[in-house]
Amino acid sequence: MARITASVYTSHVPAIGAALDLGKDHEPYWQRLFSGYEFSKQWMRDHTPDVIFLVYNDHATAFSLEFIPTFALGTAAEFAVADEGWGPRPVPRVIGHPELASHIAQSVIQSDFDLTIVNRMDVDHGLTVPLSLMFGQPEAWPCPVIPFAVNVVQYPVPSGRRCFELGKALRRAIETYDRPLDIQIWGTGGMSHQLQGARAGLINRDWDNRFLDRLISDPAALAEVPHIEYVREAGSEGIELVMWLIARGAMDDIAGGKAPNVAHRFYHVPASNTAVGHLILENR
Ligand code: DHB
Ligand code: FE
Repeated sequence: MARITASVYTSHVPAIGAALDLGKDHEPYWQRLFSGYEFSKQWMRDHTPDVIFLVYNDHATAFSLEFIPTFALGTAAEFAVADEGWGPRPVPRVIGHPELASHIAQSVIQSDFDLTIVNRMDVDHGLTVPLSLMFGQPEAWPCPVIPFAVNVVQYPVPSGRRCFELGKALRRAIETYDRPLDIQIWGTGGMSHQLQGARAGLINRDWDNRFLDRLISDPAALAEVPHIEYVREAGSEGIELVMWLIARGAMDDIAGGKAPNVAHRFYHVPASNTAVGHLILENR
């Protein structure tokens, strides 16, 4: 059977992609950020999974106000890198895993989550920046990736509780897939940031670090935090953090297993307008 071996959490700031693509990653401003991912890139080389289930949000790129799926599962064989206004990033296209994605659709929809099945979708910085942070700039991504887009852009957005429950359903789906695959689940976006309005530029280090603490040790209680607390404490775009609860809900301890090993934890301010948080949790 397939098995989830680890979960990875990281912010997805678009300027990180631009810094890499334009060769600015050695500048001191960016070096402080990328140094926090040196461990992670080595860890990825040592723990390359068979498939990554990557939870992220689309930023009105593939979707728009015409069409707003809450949870969109990418079932295609491949996904093109989106043009977000200045041409697609020069990174590899994303190879999917239609067979596993179809199994997940069957299992999770039958567990009462209404997923939107997406057979064609360009992927934006929400998905490509986490891949770049963890893999660097390879010719091809080293494994297939199933994109899973969550609406955290247009209200109403899903609650943390629903995201956590969805993670449990994803775990059941993956563990009933009849092939011995090593799967990682990634939760991306966040941490505190607000891009607009009177509070633009908001960063809340204390709240972010408590979020990391609670995600590690008390995720069920963290899942009860209402969306208004995210917006008040972490800014309007801080709500992206509910996606981390999907990945956390899929870990062993939530289903009665052992607590995860914290392989890596990193927090850095600033990157563009955003606080960057990063965790790697391993199932034991
Ligand atoms: C920034 C952060 C985001 O999450 C995003 O989607 C766009 C911009 C920023 O910090 O500039
Ligand atoms: Fe974002």
